[in-house]
Amino acid sequence: MSQADGGTRYGAGEPAALDRYSSGVLSHERPTELERLRALERMSDAWTRQTFADRGLRPDWRCLELGAGAGSVARWLAGQCPDGRVVALDVDTRFLDAGWAKNLEVVEGDLRETEFPPGSFDLIHARALMMHLPQPERIIARVARWLAPGGWLVLEDPVNFTTDSSPYPAWQRIMRALEDALSAQGTDLTWARRRQTAALADAGLTELGLALQPLIVGDGGAADAFMRLFFEQVGPGLVGQNRLTADQLAEGLALLDDPRFLDVTHTYLVGWGRRP
Ligand SMILES: C[S@@+](CC[C@H](N)C(=O)[O-])C[C@H]1O[C@@H](n2cnc3c(N)ncnc32)[C@H](O)[C@@H]1O
Repeated sequence: MSQADGGTRYGAGEPAALDRYSSGVLSHERPTELERLRALERMSDAWTRQTFADRGLRPDWRCLELGAGAGSVARWLAGQCPDGRVVALDVDTRFLDAGWAKNLEVVEGDLRETEFPPGSFDLIHARALMMHLPQPERIIARVARWLAPGGWLVLEDPVNFTTDSSPYPAWQRIMRALEDALSAQGTDLTWARRRQTAALADAGLTELGLALQPLIVGDGGAADAFMRLFFEQVGPGLVGQNRLTADQLAEGLALLDDPRFLDVTHTYLVGWGRRP
């Protein structure tokens, strides 16, 4: 299969690829972004792999990893599917390397403008991507057409339904400021809860399923590292935009070192559906 057959338009320099995500607080240009993406992988790869195993991942599957980031999922899938292939798509592929595996193809392009031939994949996965995109339902409907009969679409996005009930005001304050800033950039941390399941169903998928993966902060684990990097990256901007004072930011982050602090922060909604 060639992407060109499907009419794909892609290229790092295209203006359409250079808005919101690519130029905002989570841009790959940020010096800590690779480290932040690696922390995200350490935090979530175990449950992502289990989700694939539970869907019956097979060595001959053709897989598409959307918004592949720093690439751990695509790389792992390439190892699991030696008789199949993996396409890793990202709007910015600087952290991906097709040399990791012979059956791995790296495609630079904006998902909103990329096409693949119908029925090309047995597994399509997107983690922490749909929440960044406008009108994710339209994209999901397109993406579902790229599944072969029996193929799975797996979508994972964090939701913020524990922020307002956090018993730690200083933590709640910095998380609200972060969520407001992300929202201003077009990232919707409520999307998955409100619309993910309907989007999978409306795309014609069946055998829908949903799992929750809550992130715990304060235990010195992967989510602590991820949140520290997140705030290191966006913190100065939150202060600069008067969303937080420097003292409030420091007070919130200090909780991560407090032995009396443990909290649930964002929860990932892991949803899936199958093409009949
Ligand atoms: C939060 S990161 C998640 C990375 C990876 N999925 C993971 O969970 O480890 C989102 C990724 O999606 C990519 N991305 C954002 N908007 C995109 C778009 N419109 N088309 C393709 N990739 C996009 C970003 O460049 C980034 O690598």
